[in-house]
Order: sequence, then C-alpha cells, then structure tokens
Amino acid sequence: MKKIIIINGPNLNLLGSRENNIYGKETLGEIENNCIKKASELKLKIDFFQSNNEGDIIEKIHFVENEYDGLIINPAAFTHSSIAILDSLRSIKKPKVEIHLSNIYKREEYRKKSITSEGVDGLICGFGGNSYILGIEAVAKLIYN
Ligand code: DQA
Repeated sequence: MKKIIIINGPNLNLLGSRENNIYGKETLGEIENNCIKKASELKLKIDFFQSNNEGDIIEKIHFVENEYDGLIINPAAFTHSSIAILDSLRSIKKPKVEIHLSNIYKREEYRKKSITSEGVDGLICGFGGNSYILGIEAVAKLIYN
C-alpha cells in the first residue's frame, strides 16, 4: 500500500478552539479521522503529524524521500516566513501538495505570499477541513497517474 504523510505546522493543534470564525469548529483530531477514512478509500496509508517547531517539521520532510510516496503539508504561519521549510520541500522529488484551511489570498497582506508553495506541486486553500480531503485526492492522482 502507498503511504503518505500529512504534516501540520504551528498552532494547528489548537483547531476547534482557535479563531473558529476563520478556521471552523473541527479539531485536528476530527480532521485526522476524516483523512484516514478518505485515504483508505483511495488505498493510501497515512501518517498524521503536527509540530510547533520548525526543525521538527524539516526533519519529517527529510524522511519523505525514503519512507513515503507523497506529502501533504499545512505549514501554518511558517508558510509566510520559512525559507528553511521551502528548501527542505525542494529536496523532495515525491508528489507534494500544500494546503490551508483558510483562503490565504483573501486575508491580511502578510498572508498572501506563500514562500513554501514554491517547493510543492500545487496548493489548495479556502475549503476548511475539506482542503485536507482535496489534498489527499490531489496527491493520490499524482502518485497513481
Ligand atoms: C493556515 C493559514 C496561515 O496563514 C495561518 O498562520 C495558520 C493556518 C490555514 O490553514 O489557513 O496557522 O495555514
């Protein structure tokens, strides 16, 4: 079975209680359960990871080339600042999709630039928890096609 990892950046562990008007009411655990269901329909196994630390996220990305068939990442606020995460994404040749719950292009000016998306195949944003499901469909297509 093909295996992907879904990496979540800082503060996403607070989903469900954090700025519900922007991010919705779903917790990260609920999103993870929906992802597991969707992935099994598409014959994918997933590992789901969240960290508030840039270095831990970079180290997970380093494992992707040898241990996974694809990657989905919501880098959260690191999206707008981290050249280090961009560089680590660029080192991976496997299918890669960036996702966001909110539509970052409809928000504050400083969120409109995604530095990290320059290192992935494509970007999905603005669909709440469903961005994760759309991300799984996109990465599955890249893996199986
Ligand atoms: C986010 C958007 C980022 O700008 C923000 O810092 C987040 C969440 C999203 O999923 O909409 O933490 O990545």
